[in-house]
Amino acid sequence: MEKKSANIVWHQHKINKQSREESLGQKGILLWFTGLSGSGKSTIASALEQKLWALGKHTYLLDGDNIRHGLNGDLGFSDEDRKENIRRIKEVAKLFVDAGTITIASFIAPFKEDRASVRKVLGQNFIEVFIDCPLEVCQQRDPKGLYKKVEMGEIKNFTGIDSPYEKPDQPEIIIQSNQLSVEESVDTIIEKLKPYF
Ligand code: PPS
Repeated sequence: MEKKSANIVWHQHKINKQSREESLGQKGILLWFTGLSGSGKSTIASALEQKLWALGKHTYLLDGDNIRHGLNGDLGFSDEDRKENIRRIKEVAKLFVDAGTITIASFIAPFKEDRASVRKVLGQNFIEVFIDCPLEVCQQRDPKGLYKKVEMGEIKNFTGIDSPYEKPDQPEIIIQSNQLSVEESVDTIIEKLKPYF
């Protein structure tokens, strides 16, 4: 991104991430859900958030479809727009994590390079969760009727069909959503999160 702002100086404020975490009694982390459309990202992310909430945690869920209604409503699905989508979410998620929130981001984020850039910025606070589901199963589920529209030629550049999805090499957590129930998926993630609590 070309930087256009000049003459700006970073202010080091007195209340920092550590102060906020101490006050909240938790660590700010980012759980990044990635996977194909229809893999179960939003469903599992939502159920996970409810479980964390019930455990008394402060959470926020950033969801692809929802963010594209507002902040990223000017972006489509070209490679360039998807990159800009993830770049903006990286910045938003960084703020939420800095606020001490357990942040869940649910985006296809098809490019390794973009996910690596989120990891680089968030460091130890970044946990990649790959919602792994075969394309054929996603196509059968077709919860929003989008694969049908692709088949009818009504949608172009669809992830996994005529737009690439680069699987993560070493995600911290893998959920095979065609083999686990939503509840089992959530329990698996919570178990893996224990060291962070
Ligand atoms: S990306 O690739 O990270 O920028 O995508 P994301 O912001 O997560 O948005 C994905 C949701 O947009 C809907 N949709 C599409 N997905 C993929 N490809 C194309 N062409 C497309 N057009 C619309 C779809 O509802 C995606 O949501 P999920 O939850 O993944 O099904």
